[in-house]
Amino acid sequence: MTEVRLRVRIGRLRPRDLDEAYRYQRVYLTPGRRRFERCFRARPDLFVAARVGDRMAGICWGRPCRGRIFLDGIAVFGWLWRNGIGSAMLREFEARVAAAGGSTISLVSAGGFVDRFYLKNGYSACQLRLRLPRKRRVNRPRGFEVDQVRRSRGPTFLYVHIGSLSHKWVEHARRAFRAEEANLVFEKEVPGRKRTRRA
Ligand SMILES: CC(C)(COP(=O)(O)OP(=O)(O)OC[C@H]1O[C@@H](n2cnc3c(N)ncnc32)[C@H](O)[C@@H]1OP(=O)(O)O)[C@@H](O)C(=O)NCCC(=O)NCCS
Repeated sequence: MTEVRLRVRIGRLRPRDLDEAYRYQRVYLTPGRRRFERCFRARPDLFVAARVGDRMAGICWGRPCRGRIFLDGIAVFGWLWRNGIGSAMLREFEARVAAAGGSTISLVSAGGFVDRFYLKNGYSACQLRLRLPRKRRVNRPRGFEVDQVRRSRGPTFLYVHIGSLSHKWVEHARRAFRAEEANLVFEKEVPGRKRTRRA
């Protein structure tokens, strides 16, 4: 048997790769093209790409939001999953946040094994986010503590204290609130990188 090792390079997303990055990320992630481009123009330092040769292998990007950095999306091409590329992109992203002065990174996990991915990378689950259809009255079932209700022109989001990280508890909460979706919110503190003064 012959073994071939792929060389994966992780670095900032180059402006000329924006089209490829967008085509690629929309397979896994949701934001529209305009928002993606607007965020890139505002904070290109928060866009990380993984490349194998001249092809994109993954993308990770975020933006400032309510005094934090929100990790909007991370995706690795399916056939390259489980090779440490996602974790390496996260480390690069965190280094960029640190270089920009540090912040809390927060994100909404897609759920399932993705929760494990963030836990393994040092993120802590802090809330459960429940998505309710627009105009639905918010019920307050017993046994849950609601931290925040965010209404928008679209769905309403409830943020609830976490009782457990188990899939069973998440599903129990989703049903209790009659929510369309339930996702764990994770966060991680990334301190600013200290500048060392040259002698
Ligand atoms: C989530 C994602 C970016 C992970 O990328 P990756 O390069 O495969 O992740 P890593 O190889 O760095 O995995 C690190 C750890 O996460 C966990 N993990 C990652 N993928 C997993 C899987 N498919 N099943 C179980 N655990 C998994 C494991 O603990 C893994 O460590 P291990 O391989 O030593 O056991 C990738 O699966 C992906 O692109 N998914 C689709 C898009 C998506 O859901 N993005 C998240 C949006 S919130």
